[in-house]
Amino acid sequence: MRRPFVAANWKMNGDLASNANLAQAFAAGIDTSKVDAAVFAPHVYLSALSEQLKGSKISVGAQTANTAASGAFTGETSLSMIKEVGCTHVLTGHSERRVMNGETDEVVAEKTATALEAGITPVFCIGETLEERESGNMEAVVARQINAVIDRVGVEAFANIIVAYEPVWAIGTGVTASAEQAQEAHAFIRQLFAQKNADVAEKLIILYGGSMKAANAKELIGQPDIDGGLVGGASMIAEEFVAICAAAV
Ligand code: G3H
Repeated sequence: MRRPFVAANWKMNGDLASNANLAQAFAAGIDTSKVDAAVFAPHVYLSALSEQLKGSKISVGAQTANTAASGAFTGETSLSMIKEVGCTHVLTGHSERRVMNGETDEVVAEKTATALEAGITPVFCIGETLEERESGNMEAVVARQINAVIDRVGVEAFANIIVAYEPVWAIGTGVTASAEQAQEAHAFIRQLFAQKNADVAEKLIILYGGSMKAANAKELIGQPDIDGGLVGGASMIAEEFVAICAAAV
């Protein structure tokens, strides 16, 4: 059976003191014998966060990393750098980076591939906009995003990739996809993989993201093809995130 995975994406929020408080509450409250948990923090806090979560079995991840090993890339951070400060995971393809940083499917595929090569688990994000959903293109968009990465790394590589389905219209809006809508999308994603490799599809962890909170987590994660969550806003409230992790079990 697939083990549930719940990830906190703090985005560009927090400070040293609030991160320390959250880390302490997560370490004390999350039963990592039953659920895998990870926290994606801004780069400047990764080092401290790794220390704060030491011994807790909660993983630390970066929200992005550059594909180059080193060089003249002002402001960028390499995979070996995030690894050195304790990261085991990295987000790729988050919709905010696709939109605000112009990350194309090809860039996302390259970032996913280089993370794998560096031994870092990519949490590869996909999802459609409201316009794309309303025009009946949800499946086409999601398939295009996934196929770009499969074309680059091969379907077998997804044994080491976590997928996060995040409908863009549900991110930070308070509007959650209904459990039925989310399950329908997740089933479509798993089926897309099953056509290429049944074993990979069966084992693939697919997270839901988009206004997940303690109140809706159980119903969402209870769906047959939803294996956990990628949580933004609610992951900055200790009780909320701990409750989401408990609901995933
Ligand atoms: O990475 C997390 C997602 O973008 C979801 O964010 O929970 O604030 O809607 P949200």
